[in-house]
Amino acid sequence: MTGWALLGQARDLADHGQWITGWIGSIPVLVRNFSGALRGFRNVCSHRFALMLTTPSGKGPLRCPYHAWIYDADGVPKAIPFNDSDFHLDDAGRRALALPPVSVAVAGGLVFVHPDTGADPVIPGIWLEQGMRTLPDGSVISADGAIQYRSTQTRGGAC
Ligand code: FES
Repeated sequence: MTGWALLGQARDLADHGQWITGWIGSIPVLVRNFSGALRGFRNVCSHRFALMLTTPSGKGPLRCPYHAWIYDADGVPKAIPFNDSDFHLDDAGRRALALPPVSVAVAGGLVFVHPDTGADPVIPGIWLEQGMRTLPDGSVISADGAIQYRSTQTRGGAC
């Protein structure tokens, strides 16, 4: 499945450092609040391709749990333990290891993601304006505002 996918609720990204995770089809993704800007990336570490954030939501640095690489708002690893002795990555080397970005759109208090960075961010808002309850990714918004995500993982709450 590709296209816009419902990832979560904007209220879970209200503060700097908050993040949510999910999937676009088989692609693990995350969206994090970086000083007020929502940025989305593939949720796979550039070092040894580990899944980085493993819970649906949380707050903290974008840090891989395996060897503690920390990524910045551009998806670039800004802190790499033992870089001076082991990796020798300069700025260009770090930028070459940036996490692939994904598009992020917020509509109706919901957060959507798309694997294509050129995706039109107005589309999810149009769906909601049209009263669409079953979204193209298979997620369902019930009459009381509860959300059943395509993954069948209900994260609850009215939208
Ligand atoms: S696998 Fe992520 S820091 Fe090593």
